[in-house]
Amino acid sequence: MWYDEIYMRMRKAEIFHSEMADIFMFLGFIDWHKLHVRQFKEETKEQRRFKEAIMRHYGELVIQKNNLAEDDKLWFVGYYEKENTAVALKKLWDRYLEYEKETCTTYEYLLSESLKNNDMKAFSLIKPLLVDVLAEIKKIKSIINILEAIGYDVQTIISMQKGSVLNG
Ligand SMILES: [Fe+2]
Repeated sequence: MWYDEIYMRMRKAEIFHSEMADIFMFLGFIDWHKLHVRQFKEETKEQRRFKEAIMRHYGELVIQKNNLAEDDKLWFVGYYEKENTAVALKKLWDRYLEYEKETCTTYEYLLSESLKNNDMKAFSLIKPLLVDVLAEIKKIKSIINILEAIGYDVQTIISMQKGSVLNG
């Protein structure tokens, strides 16, 4: 069913944000650690709402059909181990943008399919997810623009972080 793919993206997002939170904590960027913890919690809530909506409207039980741990094994290894902090930060932010763009592509495709199939219920469930991911992408891009402008300079990032747009 169309929602299997969405559910898989949601589960992946949960793992993704959890691992991002770990890496940023490890690197000592607590505001970005908190940003990913917040996103992780959002994903968990979103998943619950989504699964329950599918059960209510389609009478189907949404279950995980593939092994996410195998699919995505340790994608982050090497992002920080061999790099200096500035390079690691650039890779992490680029990966974050890439990840959300993948999600966006999936949701856009499924939204257009729902229109083709005239499934207005699917449309109404997918649309807010797409709106959310577009907002997330916008926020990531604005942070990356600032980081690019300052060349990912760690000292500048730390001094800019308090109460700024860089916090996310
Ligand atoms: Fe996300």
